[in-house]
Amino acid sequence: MPNHLQDTVTLNNGVKMPWFGLGVYLAKEGAEVENAVKAAIDYGYRSIDTAAAYHNEEGVGRAVTQAIQHNGLSRENLFITTKVWNSDQGYESTLEAFEKSLSRLKLDYVDLYLVHWPVKEKYKDTWKALEKIYKEGKARAIGVSNFQIHHLEDLLQDSEVVPTVNQVELHPELTQKELLQYCHDQGIRLEAWSPLGQGNLLDHEVLQGIAKKHGKSVAQVILRWDLQNGVVVIPKSVNPDRIAQNGNIFDFVLDADDMRTIDQLNRNRRFGSDPDNFNI
Ligand SMILES: NC(=O)c1ccc[n+]([C@@H]2O[C@H](COP(=O)([O-])OP(=O)(O)OC[C@H]3O[C@@H](n4cnc5c(N)ncnc54)[C@H](OP(=O)(O)O)[C@@H]3O)[C@@H](O)[C@H]2O)c1
Repeated sequence: MPNHLQDTVTLNNGVKMPWFGLGVYLAKEGAEVENAVKAAIDYGYRSIDTAAAYHNEEGVGRAVTQAIQHNGLSRENLFITTKVWNSDQGYESTLEAFEKSLSRLKLDYVDLYLVHWPVKEKYKDTWKALEKIYKEGKARAIGVSNFQIHHLEDLLQDSEVVPTVNQVELHPELTQKELLQYCHDQGIRLEAWSPLGQGNLLDHEVLQGIAKKHGKSVAQVILRWDLQNGVVVIPKSVNPDRIAQNGNIFDFVLDADDMRTIDQLNRNRRFGSDPDNFNI
């Protein structure tokens, strides 16, 4: 259980990943994403989650370079995740897409490289490319995103490297308990995207009750629930006050009743796409 914003979880390959990070989906390239990453790093965040598809890797890269030059941080203090987009999947095209991401980020390695979605007929070749990238030391860890149990079972049959992470939509109305257990059994760490339901869960009455009891916000309660469930979490905000608020979750603990009550809010409700019915 992490006690501090910079605490890490050890992945199945020994790499340490922060439990908590900043997501930058929909943070606009340029000043918006740069300022968000800067505010997060200034507050103490050490992990940033981007993707080729977010079209803001350059801004993330500039903010990371600045943090290294001006905040006294070294590259090793930061954990940068990016992802290969669906149209680039396949062996050679993934290798090329990875090099382009590295160059946009102005990095010589990433900490975590993910297969963004399980594109049918392609994700196994994509994974072979990630294995090569990993073996060459250009990604310290590799993983997947939006993989259901059947995708993982299929991938594990043919893979040399077990994914370190599966990043999926997960929040109080989509608790993903079966996938959480499966990933736990396989040594794969689950990471929650859209933990706040893209902002849609913040006026939920039950969550507001728990938030009031602890003198915290609904966002803080949800993010704390993730960590107490052993789930890595990457809320997105481009607002410095909300970036600080989201990171300020290490001074309270949800009790067993709170945890059970939140778990029971599950409705298998997705705000994002369903990995089994997704065609881009
Ligand atoms: N792998 C995938 O397929 C996938 C898919 C989606 C997302 N992701 C990753 O997961 C990250 C998080 O998911 P998300 O961006 O979809 O949604 P989210 O983190 O659940 O919610 C973000 C929304 O909530 C608002 N917000 C954040 N903190 C708040 C607070 N304390 N109080 C009130 N409002 C708050 C943000 O607005 P402001 O910015 O204005 O604060 C934004 O509108 C993404 O940025 C991305 O890195 C991955």
